[in-house]
Amino acid sequence: MRDAAQDLLAWYDRHARDLPWRVAPAARAARVHPDPYRVWLSEVMLQQTTVAAVKAYFERFTTLWPDVQALAAAPDAQVMGEWAGLGYYARARNLLKCARVVANDLNGQFPDTREDLVKLPGIGPYTSAAIAAIAFDAPEVVVDGNVERVMARLHDIHTPLPAAKPELTRAAAALTPNRRPGDYAQAVMDLGATVCTSKSPACGICPWMARCTARKAGTQSDLPHKTPK
Ligand code: ADE
Repeated sequence: MRDAAQDLLAWYDRHARDLPWRVAPAARAARVHPDPYRVWLSEVMLQQTTVAAVKAYFERFTTLWPDVQALAAAPDAQVMGEWAGLGYYARARNLLKCARVVANDLNGQFPDTREDLVKLPGIGPYTSAAIAAIAFDAPEVVVDGNVERVMARLHDIHTPLPAAKPELTRAAAALTPNRRPGDYAQAVMDLGATVCTSKSPACGICPWMARCTARKAGTQSDLPHKTPK
């Protein structure tokens, strides 16, 4: 029997969202990885902003500044102006700082490990794991809110968030494959965003339907539990 990661990758090959920071399906089939600059830029933009809102900003930034050297050379005021509307302006200031470190000190090359990526301005634990996985195919465990919800349901975990985070991260780690970890990371995000949604999950079309413990218990729409703020 195929394992859970393989089932999800087979689903992703047919249903991956077409997003501007991803490579085309034919390139993905040939195992071409996206440009680290584009992965970094998209992940920083996506930190507190939805995919729908980020798309146009990503297109605009990559048209104006197609590589990290171009962004590093841009005037601060122009970059801040183009960022307007995305919010959380510390992200834009760190974006420029990071671009200048990579362009000037690292010869334009993003580091390829989570440990080195996390040392750069504006790159925290989540973003470093996402870049290492997506741009460099490192088997890093990438956990965002979508992934937490999917893991809570797959294993019917009733511990409330945020206390459940270590348990959900362990569950995500146990599933992360050595083969195609970057595609896998994006596949779990897509599953959470399009199928395993917070309200009315579409269990009937889920590639993990037969494995999902919450679905068997009928608890999927209640999970994950959250400790009231
Ligand atoms: N949210 C954060 N990173 C993402 C990605 N690479 N694809 C889709 N949604 C995301």
